[in-house]
Amino acid sequence: PVELLFTHKGVQYPTTVCTPENLQALEGFEANKDDVMLVSYPKCGTNWALQILQEMVYTLANKSPPPDIPMIEFGTPDKLERLKQQPSPRLLVTHLHYDYIPKSVFKNKTKKVVVFRNPKDAAVSLFYFCNNSPIFPSYSTWDEFFQDYMSGKVCWGSYFDSLITWNKHLDDEDVLIITYEELQENLVVGVKQIAEFLGLPLTQDQIQGIANRATFQNMKAKSNETHGQFGQVLFRKGDIGDWKNLFSPAQSQEMDEKFKSSLGGTKLGAKMKY
Ligand code: PPS
Repeated sequence: PVELLFTHKGVQYPTTVCTPENLQALEGFEANKDDVMLVSYPKCGTNWALQILQEMVYTLANKSPPPDIPMIEFGTPDKLERLKQQPSPRLLVTHLHYDYIPKSVFKNKTKKVVVFRNPKDAAVSLFYFCNNSPIFPSYSTWDEFFQDYMSGKVCWGSYFDSLITWNKHLDDEDVLIITYEELQENLVVGVKQIAEFLGLPLTQDQIQGIANRATFQNMKAKSNETHGQFGQVLFRKGDIGDWKNLFSPAQSQEMDEKFKSSLGGTKLGAKMKY
């Protein structure tokens, strides 16, 4: 059988969507100052922020989003070649850890919108995704998954490593860190914050329209039309606090300790209101 995962530079990736050749080729990818990058750890709200950013980068400029999947690490080097041909501003999306993001993104000050989520809910979301998506190996128990998640033995590496690294860049002028919970609390405010960061002078109506189209219900309905059954997997619950249905008290405590040792007393830790 085909191995579902491969390891590149010590990190696991799913074989059906990523290739080592593309990961290698990405290293030399030239991003521009005008491009916008969406960075997120898996299950933290990638598709949610993508919906918002696609409207900002493409729809408002009267352009349609390119047909290729926007994740830069997905696909083969020929997809990367097509991306290179696309005129800026381009929307570049990635789950890659900071260290593996193409260096030009930092050198050229490409604006980066980074989305994070409470790690307990992100873990639960990934667990269900692994067990319902053919691209990841299934887990027979939640406990088994939890152990792998805590030790970073999951695709794209350890969430905690990612949080620790981005915490050092929270105040960089080309970085906006926004959380799933902030978007959930007030989507209009979240959309406005992203627009301001990108320097887009949007009207209140435009902001409201973008927020309306990005609600869980609207995105799920649209995804069911385009993705069919898979839409149910991608837009599962869209809730805060679903972790309470799976975590044991000991697991909850273990993650609390891990979060504290990773981000305790930091600005990002406070922002995440963990
Ligand atoms: S992926 O596969 O890593 O790209 O997944 P990602 O898009 O990052 O995260 C999927 C989770 O985000 C939820 N989601 C939303 N929540 C609220 N509002 C909107 N509009 C929205 N869109 C996606 C989605 O339901 C997944 O979370 P869970 O907890 O599994 O429902």
